[in-house]
Order: sequence, then C-alpha cells, then structure tokens
Amino acid sequence: MTFRPDAARCPVRGHTPPLLRPLPIHGPAFDADPEATYRRLRAHGPVVWVEISPGVFGYLAVTYAACLHLLRNPERFRKDPTGNWEALGAGVIPADSPALQMMMPRDNALWKDGEEHRRLREAITTALSRVDTRALAGTVTRIADQLIDAFCETGKADLVASYTDPLPMLTVTSLFGSPPQLSEKIVHYVTRVFAAGSDAAQANAALESACLELVGLKRHRPGRDLVTYLIEAGLTDEELVQTILLIKGAAAPPTAKHTAAAIQLILTSERFAGNVHTGVTPVSAALEEVLWTRPPAPNYHPVFAQGPQQVEGVTVQPGHPILVSYAAANTDPAVAVPGAERAGNRGHLAFSAGPHACPAPDLARGISSIAVERLLDRLPDLRLAIPAHEVPALPGTFLAGPAALPVHFHPSTTGKQP
Ligand code: HEM
Repeated sequence: MTFRPDAARCPVRGHTPPLLRPLPIHGPAFDADPEATYRRLRAHGPVVWVEISPGVFGYLAVTYAACLHLLRNPERFRKDPTGNWEALGAGVIPADSPALQMMMPRDNALWKDGEEHRRLREAITTALSRVDTRALAGTVTRIADQLIDAFCETGKADLVASYTDPLPMLTVTSLFGSPPQLSEKIVHYVTRVFAAGSDAAQANAALESACLELVGLKRHRPGRDLVTYLIEAGLTDEELVQTILLIKGAAAPPTAKHTAAAIQLILTSERFAGNVHTGVTPVSAALEEVLWTRPPAPNYHPVFAQGPQQVEGVTVQPGHPILVSYAAANTDPAVAVPGAERAGNRGHLAFSAGPHACPAPDLARGISSIAVERLLDRLPDLRLAIPAHEVPALPGTFLAGPAALPVHFHPSTTGKQP
C-alpha cells in the first residue's frame, strides 16, 4: 500500500455527511473549546478523519461505543505502530511534531501487543501491588507539606507550577528508591523531556542513562522499591529503563492535571465550592467529576486496524493511527450521566478500558485526593486571584487541565514543618 499524505482524502467510509476537510484537534480553535470540536465530529460519525497535529493525520473515535469497540478488540486494533503506521514508515511525520513524541513506538508495555504486552504489564502490576499504600500516603502528605511550606508565607502562588505539577512527579520518583541526587537528575530530565523543547532528544538520552544508572544501583543493592520489584520480575536492562520511563510518564502528568483540575473546580463551581470546604461534598466527588468532564488524557491510545475494520457502521482502513477520545466518549449524549449522578459513577473512560487500561486508578485517586485535601486543610481561605473564566487551559491534544492556577490566601506559617 502506498501512503499518500492527502489531507483532503478521508479514508472513512460511511460518513453522513462526508467531511470535506479534516478538522484539527490541535490549535487555538480546538484549545478554546474542545467539546465544540467533539460535537461537530460526532455529527459526522463515530470515527472521523482528523488532523492530529500539523501534518499528522489519523482517525478519532468520538462516541462511547466506538471507543469501547477499539479498546476491547486488541486482535483487530493493535497498538504497536511499527509496520502499522504508513506515514511513520514513509518518514513524512515532521521530526519536531508533538504527536511524534507521544505516538512513536517505544519498547514498553504501552506499545506492545499480545504475549509481550502481557509479560511487560504483569511486571508492572505485580510491582505496583507490592507498594505499601499506607507508607505512600505518608510520603504524599510529606511532599505536599514541603511544597506548601515553600509558598505559604507569601499569600499567593501559582498552584500548577508550585504544587500540582511537582507533587506527583516527586511522589512517583520516591517509589523508585533512588538516591536523592539521582532522583533530582531524573526529575530534571523528565521535566525537560515533557517541555518538548529543542533539547528534548538530548534530555531523553540523559534521562535514559540516569535510569540505567539507577537500574545498576538496584541490581547491586536491592531495596523495597519499584525498580527492585521490576528487576525481580525478570526484565532486561533495556526493558527496565523503558518501563521506568513509562511509569513516570504515565503516572505523573495525568495525576498532576487531575489534581489541578479538581482544585480549579472546587474554587470555581457553585456545586463544589463551599460544599467541599464544609465537608458536605467529599473531595472524591470533585475528582470523579473531573474524570467525567475533563479527563487528564483526553485523546490517546493510538491503535492500528488490522485490515479494513468496521467500527459502529463505518469502515476504517489500516495504515493510520486511530485515537480514542476519552473526553468525547464521556460526554457522548448516548451515555450522558447527569451531574448529580456522576459522583459515585465510575463508568467514564478516563482510565481507559481493555487490556491496556490504566493499572493504577486507585493509586492515582489516592495521590490526587491527599494532594487536594492537604492543600485545603493548610490554606482554608484559598481563592482564585483571577476571574474564573480567565484561568488558562493547557493547549494541546493529549493532556488537559489548567495551565496555571494563580491563587491568594492568608499568609500563614501554621502547620509549617519544622
Ligand atoms: C489521574 C491519573 C491517571 C490517568 C487519568 C491515567 C490514565 C491512563 C490511560 C487513559 C491509560 C491508557 C493509555 C493507552 O492505552 O494509550 C493509562 C495507562 C497506563 N497508566 Fe495510567 N493514568 C493515571 C495515573 C497513573 C498512575 C498513578 C500510574 C502508575 C503509578 C499509571 C500507570 C499507567 C501505565 C503503566 C499504563 C500503561 C498500561 C498498559 O499499556 O498496559 N497511571 N493510564
């Protein structure tokens, strides 16, 4: 099959009406109101041809049923892009494309299928099941306190930069049992890789070498930590490095955005503000609301059809990535759950479904809820420093949440750690 990077050629069969040009799921119009784009796409069908990022095209599944179909049929829709993604094989994906960083094949569970996926995933789930969750709760509280201590006397802060972004990264890093200096190095390089700047490739190489150093240390001196547990599962050094990077990348950014979006909701929504402070509405209700309405990973899980495949009445062709829109699935009118009924309802797809579903939803919820509760306990009069509608949203396709949360509060040393 020859790849023709023809943006106007929609390979989906069965659309009514057909799309003349693929809608972008990136850029200012999408960022300003992603939900409006999902509504327009849904009007064209359950799976629609889109521009994922400049020069990168593929499908987006935008109904709950289509997303579940893709997630639950791994034989027909495989994850490994190698040999499946024509544009990648043809070398026509722009080297600096943000989509490439998020969608290129890597040697870890997220990008593998079948037996190889099962083996790599089992190593992760077994290692995660050995984490002492009670000790972890203490660690999250300690990290939360240290971060709050650094700004509580000033009376103002950007909670994203000073609190919600660093907290999950520091928490996850603590699970790897690395010496402090190596931890700092790893956090530094991970941050540079996620910044996706011009030095991302260099930072990635430095990060891999820091992880390899950590693996060497743990082989020499095992401990009660994730790296030791992954070594005990029999992974090779290369698999260990890539698995450490997967866990860091899969855990920290979405947990950070989940926490930030829940704090934003509590500070701005009539349904949650006040009620959470008085305890009438639990923090967990705000966290679940975010997973329904603003999932931290709104569009991801690229899969590749093995031959022409039917999805909810349309035919998708092989050779192109098909992204799952967890965000569009959750707000699909066909499964609409009214706000008041969402609190105890975990039917959303924020943690995905099927064999690649997030293996750590409880860990994620635990970290986010301690982070939110500790902040509200320490700074009870927290309020936004800007009007609610001016809170900037993170731009982009793959991660959602506030880009900044400027707040004011009464300067305080109360509760500051000695
Ligand atoms: C609110 C926070 C989180 C959200 C919304 C989230 C969401 C997701 C989603 C949607 C996937 C599927 C991705 C795909 O198939 O392309 C996934 C996979 C994964 N997540 Fe999470 N996650 C969160 C936190 C965490 C945490 C805390 C950890 C680990 C400590 C973690 C570890 C992983 C791993 C290892 C995978 C890959 C599983 C596989 O491919 O078999 N995640 N997550």
